[in-house]
Amino acid sequence: MPHDISNGSKGASMDDQPLRGQRALVTGASSGIGEGVARAFGAAGASVVVNYAGNADAAHRVVDEVKATGSDALAIRADVSKEADVEMMFAEMKRAWGGIDILVSNAGLQRDAAITDMTLEQWNTVISVNLTGAFLCARAAARAMIGQGVRPQVSRAAGKIICISSVHEIIPWAGHVNYAASKGGVKLFMQSLAQELAPHRIRVNSIAPGAIKTAINRPAWETPEALASLLKLIPYGRIGVPDDIGRTAVWLASDDADYVHGQTIVVDGGMTLYPEFAQGG
Ligand code: BGC
Repeated sequence: MPHDISNGSKGASMDDQPLRGQRALVTGASSGIGEGVARAFGAAGASVVVNYAGNADAAHRVVDEVKATGSDALAIRADVSKEADVEMMFAEMKRAWGGIDILVSNAGLQRDAAITDMTLEQWNTVISVNLTGAFLCARAAARAMIGQGVRPQVSRAAGKIICISSVHEIIPWAGHVNYAASKGGVKLFMQSLAQELAPHRIRVNSIAPGAIKTAINRPAWETPEALASLLKLIPYGRIGVPDDIGRTAVWLASDDADYVHGQTIVVDGGMTLYPEFAQGG
């Protein structure tokens, strides 16, 4: 099918609800960056599945907040590292809304340790959630999106897959080899998937956040001393907030980004600019 390069057939890309009529699944959406993406998607007009692994109350609170914006929302419990859970989650979403237009593969965690102390369990937990979880969710989403095809009334693409990676797909991180390895894995997973799914008109990209103020990095910002030391790594001079990633995700999922494919959008206040070289080298 030839690509439609005309602009404005849908007429919604410039309005304030660029995701209107689209069905999104955000994994790990009961807190942190996932919560920020779920809220931003709701405000942009998408129906949002708020996936969570453990905290049902927090997930239902996010659902209520999305619903307050006038968009539909649904909480579904699933451990993204478990194949049966992921399959069940996609089946439930299909029953509720008939399919999926946007996957944001966000669920992720850290189990930090020096290499000499790192247990196999710490290694496996991080790889299973951050990397295998991305695979299981993207596989289920790709199957659904290929089956469904383009719905021109909502988007020029048959689907959008966004991986939430990290600046640590670029920056090595001593004391966190499991986490950095998982994010390095996400980088080539995303790029290879983008190459594979392009003929189906499924756009695949990543967002690589820097330091975003959430529970995962609390020790890095909760005391004034820790925050001052963190800010030395951020040229723009502030820690990020989940909405910084939410807004980027809305744009990346929208038709305004229809020609963006196979890319990592780094959202880090300049953390990847080697700030220590500003006065040195
Ligand atoms: C990590 C955070 C860290 C940030 C910047 C993120 O991917 O989860 O703990 O603050 O990268 O180093």
